[in-house]
Amino acid sequence: MRRLHTLCCAALLAGAAACNDPAPRTTGIIPAPLEVTWHRGTFTVPETFAYVADLSPADRADLEAALPLVAASDGDRADLLIATDTTLAPEGYRLEVGRRGATIAARDAAGVFYAMQSLLEMADRFDGRIPAVSIADAPRFAYRGLMFDVSRHFRSKEFVFKQIDRMARHKLNRLHWHLTDAAGWRIAIDRYPELTDIAAWRPYADWAAWSEGGARYCRRDDPEARGGYYTKEDIREVVEYARLRHITVIPEIEMPSHSEEVLAVYPALSCTGKPYTSSDFCVGNEATFEFLENVLDEVIALFPSEYIHIGGDEAPKTHWRTCPRCRERMRREGLKDVDELQSYLVRRIERYLNARGRRLIGWDEILEGGLAPDATVMSWRGVEGGIAAARSGHHAVMTPGAHCYLDHCQDDPTIEPPSAASFVSLADVYGYDPAPDSLGRDVQRMILGVQGNLWCEHIPTDEHFEHMLWPRGLAIAEVGWSAPGRMDYDDFHARVLEVTDRMQAEGYHPFDQKNAVGSRPEAREAVACLSTGKPIRYNTPYHSGYPAAGDATMTDGLRGGWKFGDGRWQGWLNSDVDLTLDLGATQPIAYAGIGFMQAPAAEIRMPHEVTISLSDDNEHFTELATVAVDTALDPRKTAFQTFAWSGEARGRYVRIVGRLDKSKGGWLFADEVIVR
Ligand code: ACM
Repeated sequence: MRRLHTLCCAALLAGAAACNDPAPRTTGIIPAPLEVTWHRGTFTVPETFAYVADLSPADRADLEAALPLVAASDGDRADLLIATDTTLAPEGYRLEVGRRGATIAARDAAGVFYAMQSLLEMADRFDGRIPAVSIADAPRFAYRGLMFDVSRHFRSKEFVFKQIDRMARHKLNRLHWHLTDAAGWRIAIDRYPELTDIAAWRPYADWAAWSEGGARYCRRDDPEARGGYYTKEDIREVVEYARLRHITVIPEIEMPSHSEEVLAVYPALSCTGKPYTSSDFCVGNEATFEFLENVLDEVIALFPSEYIHIGGDEAPKTHWRTCPRCRERMRREGLKDVDELQSYLVRRIERYLNARGRRLIGWDEILEGGLAPDATVMSWRGVEGGIAAARSGHHAVMTPGAHCYLDHCQDDPTIEPPSAASFVSLADVYGYDPAPDSLGRDVQRMILGVQGNLWCEHIPTDEHFEHMLWPRGLAIAEVGWSAPGRMDYDDFHARVLEVTDRMQAEGYHPFDQKNAVGSRPEAREAVACLSTGKPIRYNTPYHSGYPAAGDATMTDGLRGGWKFGDGRWQGWLNSDVDLTLDLGATQPIAYAGIGFMQAPAAEIRMPHEVTISLSDDNEHFTELATVAVDTALDPRKTAFQTFAWSGEARGRYVRIVGRLDKSKGGWLFADEVIVR
C-alpha cells in the first residue's frame, strides 16, 4: 500500500504545484483548519470516490457505510488515495487535492473521516469543483460535544440522525444524550417497564403547559398521552449511526435528583414514599442502589461509551435532612452533611461503573461533599467547577452557561421564539476559550474540551430545536477544534452565512444570522439627559444579587441590553420599584420615564403600572401619570417597555413607582431613569 501510495500520489496531484494563484481565501470549512495552501488547478469531485486505502477491512467497511466511497477496482483509476501515517495527531489529517484526485493521510480512521468531511464541505462550497489545495489539520480538544435534552420534549431517532449528520460534518465527536429528567424518561429498561409505560407520557405535548397543569404523567394508552421513548433497537441504531460518523453517544441517567418521573412510578425510592413529593432518590434506601445499578446494567449494555453521565445537578436534598434512612446512612458512614451524602452516592455509583470498565462524568455539583476519585466534571455553573476539578487532577469538560447554553436567546428576544431567560449570541459562544493559557499547562491538559447544551423546556418543536442549535453549534465546533491562532470571528461569521444557506437548502432550520439584529439598539449609545449622573434615593432596595452598578445604575446613562444579567439591569425581588430622583434644582421637564424588562423564564415581570410624580420639596408630590403595562405584550416572551410621561411641568424631585403584581410575585428589572 505504501508503494501504491507513492505511485498514485504523483498522478493524482499532477498539476498541483504550489503557486501564488489569487485563489479563494477561504475553504469555507467549519471548523477552520490549521494550515491551508492553495495550488493551481481544479478537481472535479465525483459523485462517489473510487478509493484505495491501506486501512483494515473493518475501517474500510465503516467508511463506505458513512461516505460516498467505493473501493477502486483498479488502483490507477482511483480518485482518492488513503494512507495511514502514524506521525500525525489523533483525529488529524493531511489532505491534498490535485487536478485528478485527492490523497488523505491520517493516523486513524477518525482522521480519514474528517479529511473526507473537509473534502465534502469544499465540494459543496465550490459546486463540485474544488481548487487544488493542501490542508494539514488536527483538533485542539479531544472532546467536542453537543448535549440534547430529549426529556422535556421527545425527538424521533430520525431527527437525531439528522443532527448527527451535521455534527459529523463539523467534526463534533460527542453526543451527550439527556435521556431522563422530570419531564419524561426516554429509554426502555426491560426490568422497569413503568418507566416507559407511564413516566415517558404526559397529557400535554408542551412542557410549559404540562408544568403549569400539575406536572403529572399518564399511561401510554391514555388518549391524551404525548411523549415517547427509544426502544433498545432505536438506541442501538442511533449509537451505530453515530459511531460510523465518529461520534460517541454518552447517555445521561439523572441521579440523585431531577428524578420526579422515576419517583412517580416507583415512589418507594423517595424519602417520602409518595409520588409527586420529591425530586430526589432516597440515598438511605438500599433499594435506590438496586434500582440505579439495574438500570445502569442495561444502559451499559447499550452504550459502548467509556463515560456514563450520572447528572448530579441541582439536588434540593431537602428530605434527606429529616429522612430516618438518610440520617442513618449518614451516621453509619460518618457523613457530616447532605452534600457528603450525595458524594456517597456518586462514589458508590462510580465504583459500580469502574468495575464494569466505565467512567463517571457528572455536572459540577458532584464536587460538593468531595469528588469521587476518578470522576470527570462537566462545568456548567461557570468555569470554576471545571477548573477546580482540573486543579485537583480530574478531567473536566467545559460547558459554562454564559457561552455554551444554547437554550438561551441568540438575537432580539422580542422577535425570537421563546427561550430560556438569558442571552447567548453566536459571538458569545465563539468568544469562549475553554482552556486559556492563563490556567497553566497542568490545568489545561486536564480540560478535555467543550460542549454546547440544548435544554428543551422552551423548545417544543423540531424546527425550533434546529433554530437554537444551529449555527451556535458551529461555533462550539470551531471552539473545540480550531487552534486559537486560527480563530477569527469575522471570518467565521462569513463562513456561517454560507453554511446556513446550504443547511437551509438541505432542509435544516438554522437561525439565519444574516437577519440578526445584534445588540439591543437602545443599549448601543449612552443616554445623556437631565437625569444623567443625578442621585437616586431607593425607597425600596434593589436585590443584592442584581445590583448592576449599585446606586449609580439608574442614572449612569447606560440602557440594559437583551440580557438581564448584563450588569446594566437592576433587580427587585417580590417588591415594587420605588425611586426618587433629585435633579438638584427646580426646573422645567418635558419627559420622565423608566425602562423595564420582562423575562418569563426567569420570573421577571413587567410592573402592571408605573406612577410618575413630581415635587419641589420631596414631600408634596403631584402625579404626572400612571402608565399601564402594554396589553399587547405576550406574557410568555421576553419584552421591554419604557414607561414614560411627556408634557410640561416644573419640579426638582421625580418619584417613580413601578408596581409588581403581587398575586404573581417574581422580579422587576429596571435599567435607567430618563428625564428630559
Ligand atoms: C444544568 O443546567 N442543570 C446542568
